[in-house]
Amino acid sequence: MTADSLTFPTQTRLFDGLDDQPLDAMLLLLRQLRDDPRTGKIDLGIGVYGDEAGRTPVMQAVRQAERIVAEAQTTKAYVAAEGDARFIALLASIVLGAARAADDRYCGLQTPGGTGALRLAAELIARANPDARVWVGTPTWINHQALMRSAGLQVLEHPFFDQSTQTVLFDAMISTLETARPGDVLLLHACCHNPTGAGFTSDQWRTIADLCARKGLLPLIDIAYQGLGHGLEEDAAAMRALLDIVPEALITASCSKNFGLYRERLGALWIKGSNAQAALRARANCVKAGRSMWSMPPDHGASVVRTILESADLTANWQAELATMRARINSVRTELARAVPQLASVAQQTGMFVLLPLSREAVAELRVKHGVYMVENGRMNVAGLRSENLPRFAAALEPYLSKGE
Ligand SMILES: Cc1ncc(COP(=O)(O)O)c(C=O)c1O
Repeated sequence: MTADSLTFPTQTRLFDGLDDQPLDAMLLLLRQLRDDPRTGKIDLGIGVYGDEAGRTPVMQAVRQAERIVAEAQTTKAYVAAEGDARFIALLASIVLGAARAADDRYCGLQTPGGTGALRLAAELIARANPDARVWVGTPTWINHQALMRSAGLQVLEHPFFDQSTQTVLFDAMISTLETARPGDVLLLHACCHNPTGAGFTSDQWRTIADLCARKGLLPLIDIAYQGLGHGLEEDAAAMRALLDIVPEALITASCSKNFGLYRERLGALWIKGSNAQAALRARANCVKAGRSMWSMPPDHGASVVRTILESADLTANWQAELATMRARINSVRTELARAVPQLASVAQQTGMFVLLPLSREAVAELRVKHGVYMVENGRMNVAGLRSENLPRFAAALEPYLSKGE
């Protein structure tokens, strides 16, 4: 008999009864990729930008800002539960635009990544209206539903995208949303939709804004890829137009992709309230919820982004590098559309992802036969393609598309 079993009766053991958790599809993919000894594997799995050499480099402006921060920082004492106020103010101009950043109906706080912002948004919604249901498009980012449910919210789906025809199912989306209740939440991607790359036209955005205003739906807008589609301003324009129509909204931003700060965990949440007091009260509720989850957000990424945005030179440097990343993504899209005529729509879509019209079997076969790694639902990261591997990928892919799979 071991010391443990002498001390504790077996029925008090908590962990023995836990359910097994199958490995997350993405983690499984990473493991398969790592264990595959073949050379020339093509990694189109995880949603991280890759350059023409297949690297995810630290951006130049980030490197310089990190040096400045390391020199200037005299303490590691806590900053604030809301995070770095100057960072929030500077990022607000980028995300919301100057006019809204100066409007006191908008109130923001720093969060651990865009994920933290979404989780906090869910907590706030649950506090304000526990009966709220959150509408998400099918498909959406793999983590959206779990994040909303983790705050106890009910999630409902509306049609968004037809994978086989690569089209947005706008009419079906709107007619489904006509059944939404006042106080329900509509989760939208501001740009560069994950996993489809598809977006709405300006007229469609206007219809969505009017629907939200008419039916009393709260828009929750996730802007995780600003600057990786058409440009920093262009990618936020439709979201900003919607914000000007609705009385209340939530905006979640991420600095993981456009500043390449993935592991530093930097994001932000803004609340648009019907007036300044309501927005401040909502933020106080977020701070309260954040205190019992992470207490204070991590500071390093926020100090770095603040340092970049406080300097005209570093800001210009950051924007130039972001423009290079964007140009690369868009040129890979053009090349792919040219190499695979069935994927012509890929050139019109934006951001890092394409949801290929492939069955799960085809995705598995591409992995086994050709060493092509992508998510089982057919999502590929276009930034994983390079001039060296794109023709090979196109040739491997084409038979599966021709078969109509
Ligand atoms: C649509 C979307 N929203 C939010 C996030 C959250 O990003 P992070 O928490 O790394 O900032 C991601 C990350 O992949 C995403 O794709």
